[in-house]
Amino acid sequence: MDLPFGLNPYDNDPGAWGASLLNNAELLLGCLDAARARSVAEVGAYAGDLTRLLLLWAERAGARVVAIDPSPQPELEQLERERSELQLIRETSLDAFEHIELTDAIVLDGDHNYYTVTQELLRIAQRSAAEGVELPLLLLHDVCWPHGRRDDYFDPDQIPAEYRQPIVPEGGLYPGLETTRHGGLPYHNPAAREGGPRNGVLTAVEDFVSGHDELRLAVVPAFYGLGVLWRREAPYAAELERILAPWEDNPLLARLERNRVLHLASSHVQLRLATDRGEELGRQRELLERMLASRAFWAAELFLRIRQRGKPIFSRAEIRRLLSNQR
Ligand SMILES: C[S@@+](CC[C@H](N)C(=O)[O-])C[C@H]1O[C@@H](n2cnc3c(N)ncnc32)[C@H](O)[C@@H]1O
Repeated sequence: MDLPFGLNPYDNDPGAWGASLLNNAELLLGCLDAARARSVAEVGAYAGDLTRLLLLWAERAGARVVAIDPSPQPELEQLERERSELQLIRETSLDAFEHIELTDAIVLDGDHNYYTVTQELLRIAQRSAAEGVELPLLLLHDVCWPHGRRDDYFDPDQIPAEYRQPIVPEGGLYPGLETTRHGGLPYHNPAAREGGPRNGVLTAVEDFVSGHDELRLAVVPAFYGLGVLWRREAPYAAELERILAPWEDNPLLARLERNRVLHLASSHVQLRLATDRGEELGRQRELLERMLASRAFWAAELFLRIRQRGKPIFSRAEIRRLLSNQR
């Protein structure tokens, strides 16, 4: 693999969805280096794919890494055992931001919905103002399709009702389709509709930034979208501008990403249809096997043979041939 430190983005991504922020490694590390970050927190660390990258980077940069996840995967827990320098906090981001030390940079990749992202941004901004420290460099995943303009909820009960969109549990998402679609990319609790106010990660970030001229948001349309948010007056602002300039809102990259998610979703639909068809064939097969085993069916075939004096309109031999062709 050509990723920094020889990491493999598909270790925990067997379907090659490109799901981990690890896929944006060069850009992420470039931003962290530009900001001379000496500490980074990752909100939503899942199986630790990005965490592993951050740890390798931190070794070189002399930085510390915090992972915040209420439901870490076993691979991340294993990483915690292997790397004593990793601090894993098993809490939601909103709970953790009540007490953890603010880090120089924060990756937001946990619960992908308007309410959570808004609250995360507000708490970070309030804390940095109250403590008189620089606003952390913020790196947000999923600011493009499918969660840029559509909420998904890790646990809908944790979201106040007035912020919660109607959901379609296990709904399938398909680019360009406002509703959900059978066989589209499956998510646990996606909003029933894309778009509109208070819906999606990008909507949350844009609402947070609007009216705050001191903040700068750049969107890189690759691997579900990377948002970078910083204070225009931050000491590293010019360096960040330089690094992000070729990538920000790059139309060619946006086209590639649209093409990528279209093919990903359409192959998922094809897979779903093939699975549905396989299940249907299984049911047909079971019915035919029951008919073959039935004495009544055998008697009906015998009756037809005698009555028609020749080839009957159906026979058990025909059914056996059909079943063996299906194998
Ligand atoms: C998309 S995965 C993170 C992927 C990871 N950042 C990467 O790039 O490899 C989302 C993770 O967020 C976690 N999560 C869900 N709600 C959260 C919350 N409120 N705060 C922190 N993490 C949350 C889930 O348990 C899940 O492991």
